[in-house]
Amino acid sequence: MKIYKAKDYADMSRKAANIISAQIIMKPECVLGLATGSTPVGLYKQLVEWYKKGDLDFSAVKTVNLDEYKGLSQDNDQSYYYFMHKNLFDNVNISVENTHIPNGMEQDSEKECNRYSELIKSLGGIDLQLLGIGHNGHIGFNEPSDSFEKQVHCVDLTESTIEANKRFFESAEDVPRQAYTMGIKTIMQAKKILVVASGEDKAQIVKEAFFGHITPYVPASVLQLHNDVTLVADEAALSKIY
Ligand code: F6R
Repeated sequence: MKIYKAKDYADMSRKAANIISAQIIMKPECVLGLATGSTPVGLYKQLVEWYKKGDLDFSAVKTVNLDEYKGLSQDNDQSYYYFMHKNLFDNVNISVENTHIPNGMEQDSEKECNRYSELIKSLGGIDLQLLGIGHNGHIGFNEPSDSFEKQVHCVDLTESTIEANKRFFESAEDVPRQAYTMGIKTIMQAKKILVVASGEDKAQIVKEAFFGHITPYVPASVLQLHNDVTLVADEAALSKIY
């Protein structure tokens, strides 16, 4: 595992955006696995800036997002579809048909999970998967549990995740209780993984995930078994390691 220590959030965003840019430049038709949440916002902003300067071309890039709330429509401003369009897709020259996000409005979980798994396979897998990390070690919506879920699946969100995400909704009651997410195997099959973490509140989980036991109770700890993982984190998030 490679660890890049960034000074602060802005530096973390720039370093992570550099890694994604390098991937796009090396393989313009690459498949990027993307994440939402607050941590990647700065890196998406940086990518948009470089695109506007003419340094990046998304015309052949394909994307698959990690997850989506079940029950939120695309025009709901808390859906991950909305987030991705606002923060990246609407601001660069990516073709909408090359962007993929689980369909939160599909009520038939089995149908949606199979469709999304098949879609990722049909794209030939993921070249670079971007991940944030939850305070409880979740990646995507793979929550702590006594086993790893392999494939794309529908999850019941834990109280801790509902609590962490309620800041985006009017109240905790408005946070959806279920989500579609790539499974651990889906994530682990990505050729490269890029994890971003920022802030002191992530320091404990970063330490447990990357230097603790590999356990489904800390889902991100499984990343220690991947051959090509890069962690880009700011000093605050690395403060319990160095
Ligand atoms: C979002 C996702 C989540 C977040 C995690 C960290 O697509 O997959 O696992 O990466 O909840 O969120 P932030 O960055 O808001 O701390």
